[in-house]
Amino acid sequence: MPVTMDTLVSLSKRRGFIFQSSEIYGGIGSCWDYGPLGVELKQNIKRIWWRDYIQRRPDMVGLDASIIMHPTVWKASGHVDNFTDPMVDCLECRHRFRADKVDEMPWVHYCAATKGNKFTIPAGEACSHCGERRTQCPDCGKGRLTAPRQFNLMFKTFMGPVEEEAALTYLRPETAQGIFVNFDNVAQSMRRKLPFGIGQIGKAFRNEITPGNFIFRTREFEQMEIEYFVNPRDTVEGKPADEYWHERWIADSLAWFQRYGLRAENLRLREHEKDELAHYAKRTADIEYYFPIGWSELMGIANRTDFDLRQHAKFSGKALTYFDEERKEHVVPYVIEPSAGVDRALLAFLADAYQEEEVRGEKRVVLRFHPELAPVKVAVLPLLKKREDIVRTAHTVRDTLARHWAVVYDDTAAIGRLYRRQDEVGTPYCVTVDVQTVGDSDKGESADGKVTIRDRDSMEQARVPIDALSTVFLDLLNGGAWSAVASKYPAAKA
Ligand code: GAP
Repeated sequence: MPVTMDTLVSLSKRRGFIFQSSEIYGGIGSCWDYGPLGVELKQNIKRIWWRDYIQRRPDMVGLDASIIMHPTVWKASGHVDNFTDPMVDCLECRHRFRADKVDEMPWVHYCAATKGNKFTIPAGEACSHCGERRTQCPDCGKGRLTAPRQFNLMFKTFMGPVEEEAALTYLRPETAQGIFVNFDNVAQSMRRKLPFGIGQIGKAFRNEITPGNFIFRTREFEQMEIEYFVNPRDTVEGKPADEYWHERWIADSLAWFQRYGLRAENLRLREHEKDELAHYAKRTADIEYYFPIGWSELMGIANRTDFDLRQHAKFSGKALTYFDEERKEHVVPYVIEPSAGVDRALLAFLADAYQEEEVRGEKRVVLRFHPELAPVKVAVLPLLKKREDIVRTAHTVRDTLARHWAVVYDDTAAIGRLYRRQDEVGTPYCVTVDVQTVGDSDKGESADGKVTIRDRDSMEQARVPIDALSTVFLDLLNGGAWSAVASKYPAAKA
């Protein structure tokens, strides 16, 4: 059974992943705060993305551009004129909807055939009593909806102390434009030859008409974007370079999500139809994920052609070209843009990791995160918190491991509860310090200097010398097999 959004929202709050923003004031629509575990998970997603795409590839460099940019950027990019959604308003309750989404919502209906009883009818369906379809506002069921009007999704703000038209600017609705306007700076300063890419991670803001579904669609979110510049005159393996690189980036992006745990059956590609292509795109393919709300966009990979560089050259008066040494001519590069949302990626990783299973007659909730994503890598747990020598040793083990990884110490419950808590937040390994580790002088038992490691996924245990812990975790957290550790350091039979 796929996990529901309600289950994820409730787990996220209970275990410190994600809280509603400004909750003590009643919350603010579609804004979310990442708690102690959520911020670790989010940082891990961004870190591996940056490492895999920017640091490990010779053809990529990074950038961190300003969120507020010159207002003409948004005129040139087409966002002032085109970044709009059609919206309709209810004349009764004043709720606002995206015109193209109204029929995808469940709708409230006062049914004449049942003395005006109120029903909530699933999206797209007719009332089973009177056969009517939705004509009124889906939320209140009483008001008429206005004709669609275009609504610009950019957040406006003012630079400086005077709120006047001349000071008007915007919070960026995509990180991409920061890359385009820096194309020449980066190409010159880093002496880049085509093809090469510039990647950036950062906040973007959109005044979405219908945000919702937890962190799936929010007004403030983060993007991980790459603009990959190619020479449109080149061919690679018999294809125009832009089309070749578009295919490569689609395949690479799909493989990336699978490498970190998303199941192949929960991922699919969807080509944009001609009439839904963005104003700048020659072709766009979305990677969709089977979210708890159904198949929806996780990331888009667009061929933006030379649209953006040409527009910025036109509006700024600065040439944004590349000198093709071979052909001795200036060209305007084409751009392939793999663009992913950090928050959506996090939601997908969370949903895919979530599993419920029965263990010895009890429900176990476990997040099977890839070790690179897990917010906590190791939890160190003392078996008896009243034994000062056990607690001291556990703290020492934690301090040593924490030099390399995110490690927690917890002694606030019995060991069974502590294991379950770590399972529920996806910690791949627990270390338990017990009486055998430190010995028991009253009983004449000497210390064995070993601790128990428990594997989250198999729940198997191994008994490892404290001195070997760092080496063992280095191996395990880099993809080493648990079975090798379990056979090298067998646990005592219970
Ligand atoms: N530069 C291209 C661009 O911004 P997009 O399809 O509008 O393209 C790219 O956005 C990605 O950003 C989406 O695939 C999604 O993951 C994320 N995203 C877009 N709008 C979002 C929103 N309101 N809330 C959360 N994530 C969003």
